[in-house]
This record gives sequence, structure tokens and C-alpha cells, in this order.
Amino acid sequence: MTRLLYPDGRIELERGTIESSMEAVGARLRLKQLPGEPGLAALLDAPVLDQTGQDALLGAIDAHLDEWLPIEGQTGHDLVVFHENLPDLAELRRKFLAFHSHVDDEVRYIVAGTGYFGFVASDDSQFLLEVGAGDLLNVPRGAEHWFTLGADSRLKAVRYFGSISQWTALPSSRKINPALLTLAGIE
Ligand code: LAC
Ligand code: NI
Repeated sequence: MTRLLYPDGRIELERGTIESSMEAVGARLRLKQLPGEPGLAALLDAPVLDQTGQDALLGAIDAHLDEWLPIEGQTGHDLVVFHENLPDLAELRRKFLAFHSHVDDEVRYIVAGTGYFGFVASDDSQFLLEVGAGDLLNVPRGAEHWFTLGADSRLKAVRYFGSISQWTALPSSRKINPALLTLAGIE
């Protein structure tokens, strides 16, 4: 479910307000649901996908997002499939659980599961964006953010890369508001 979560417990569910709040921090959030075809639904529901399944899913997503892409400067993309049995899950969670930024826009198309992105508002307060299936998020280059998976660790998303065709993060010394860690189900 797409929501904004604030440290004081306030929750925003209204799509238009969520999208304009994201615009206020320079990010863009759009909704583009995948079609409800049975073959696609099975790929989206499977916790783990072999290479053939991943290729089929990415192919279906490419065809679906065709008119919405290419994103400016896009040089490549990949499908990431997180699940509770990933051998390096703890390490991956740790890597994202700290404020960082990128030299390129961070573009993510969420197709299944739940994730949380933490952002800093112009008054330095922090908030969380909970993303779900159909959310196409563009975090602008240079914007500080952090990320965590939902409680079940299941998430499938396409990552679109700009000038650098691999994941690189510039760390930030900003501390995550502990209230948001709690809201994201951590600690
Ligand atoms: C990333 C996220 C998840 O950099 O912030 O991939
Ligand atoms: Ni990032």
C-alpha cells in the first residue's frame, strides 16, 4: 500500500497528496499497475524466480512501460528479487539502512512486495514513503534517502540506471530518525 508515514504517527493515504509531497522533495512518484494477466501474476507472486522467470518478468515489464520510458540518460536496467531466503539478505538490508545519495537519479519500478524509502523534507524533518506494486519512483540525483524492505523481506523491483550502470552510493552522515525505523518495522 502506498503511504507516507511521519515520525509523529501521522499517515497519509491520499494518492494526490502523496505525489505532491514527493514533488516537494524533488522526487516523482507515479502509478502504473501491471496488467492482471494470470501468467504475469504467477511470476509476481513467486517468492523466488529462476533466470527464465526473471527474464520473462522483465520482458513483460519492458513491454508494459514502453511509452513511459526511456528515462533521461538511462543506460540499463535490471530486476531485483528480494526474499527471506537470500543468502546475503542481512548484508543487503544493512547497506540500504543508512542515508546516502547517488550521482544519477534513482529510478525504481516496484512490481511486487513492500519497501520503505526515507526522505528529508526542506525543514530537515524526515518521513517515510511506503511503496507497493505499481509505484514508479524517481529519486533525484543528490537527494539523501535510505531504504528498507518490508517485514517479510519480499520485494520485486526494476532498477533503471543512468550514466553509471551499477549501484553506487555516496554515504551521508545524517542519522535516521529512530521513530521512522520503528514505523518501518525495524528495532
Ligand atoms: C538504492 C535504494 C534502495 O539505492 O535507495 O537502491
Ligand atoms: Ni539509493
